[in-house]
Amino acid sequence: VLTCEPITIEEYENYAKERLPLASLEYLQRGADRDFTAKRNCAAFSKVKVIPRYLVDVSNRSTKVEVLGKHFDFPVGVAPTGLQKRWHPEGEIATIRATNAANTIAIVSIASSVLYEDIAKEAPDAEKWMQIFLFENNSITLEFVRKAEDLRFGAIVVTIDMSVTPLRYFNTRNKWKDQHVMVNLENYLDDDGNRQQFKYHYATWAQLQEIINSTKLPVIVKGVLTPHDAALAYANGAKGIIVSNHGGRQIDGAISSLEALSDIVANFPPRKGFEIYFDGGIRGGVDVFRALAIGAKFVFVGRPPMYGLFHSGQQGVENVLKILRSELETLLGQTGCNSVKEVGMSFVSFKFPFE
Ligand code: FNR
Repeated sequence: VLTCEPITIEEYENYAKERLPLASLEYLQRGADRDFTAKRNCAAFSKVKVIPRYLVDVSNRSTKVEVLGKHFDFPVGVAPTGLQKRWHPEGEIATIRATNAANTIAIVSIASSVLYEDIAKEAPDAEKWMQIFLFENNSITLEFVRKAEDLRFGAIVVTIDMSVTPLRYFNTRNKWKDQHVMVNLENYLDDDGNRQQFKYHYATWAQLQEIINSTKLPVIVKGVLTPHDAALAYANGAKGIIVSNHGGRQIDGAISSLEALSDIVANFPPRKGFEIYFDGGIRGGVDVFRALAIGAKFVFVGRPPMYGLFHSGQQGVENVLKILRSELETLLGQTGCNSVKEVGMSFVSFKFPFE
């Protein structure tokens, strides 16, 4: 058992491992089925070796980054994860305070345990993106789009990789049951009294396009794993994608996020006004560096900030972000990079596919 404050992401994770009840821990830490993809997401990073350049003046290096025309202090934001009151009584409120203090982006899940309205009220100037799904009934999706506009969210993130509820045997075995309510979805019950979020297995690119055409907010597609879907997101008017396999929580057996990123940048040439972000398996600044080097403009972390939230609320989330930022800043110096823009393919070595 840890006796002092965690100073690495791994220590935050270990703290959660030692204290969370099994069912909750599995829900947070594991992926789906046998965890092939959740494990591969992390393991993929070890295939990418960092190549430094020495005797470069790095005294003025900076981790600053520009995303959708706005400036942030470092290229790591918080991915959407549902029901954060599971990990700390303040839930999403603590998280938005932390990302606001760190000057980075928080994506707020539609499955949050705090209303979008209350998060916006808590941090009106924080950069927050609204994550939604495409509902079978498009008018519900459009209501959320109007809400994002009214509450001054900076972008809408449409998650496309959850059309079907995954099999998570370990959650069944250990009787995982949520104590918290998806408050944003309370008003949307279907005829059987089930919440509508389980009803988007009908969604198509045409429906996404309708959403994109209905708003001036940038729309980002989350869950892209192929050059094919990247091209479709672009063709339908999205302003960017998050290369992601949902932290290995959907298709167990899916390609790792990092391999997918590598495939996408190799086979879908960069387009002006179309940005590529990444999530999945990042557990340190060196992983941020690797994803940037392969071609991500910005990355998100899902589980690490939740380990921080569980440990100490806002402070824990801030610490996790600080660790990633300072590890990245150190590595920029060690590799001879003065900015995150400079971090490109020549700073890594790897074979694709990874095995
Ligand atoms: C998620 N993720 C997720 N994604 C999403 O679009 N909407 C959601 O509500 C959730 N909920 C959720 C809950 C939990 C507990 C986890 C761990 C993940 C996926 C998340 O946004 C992200 O894609 C992954 O977590 C990234 O992988 P890492 O950083 O956790 O390895």
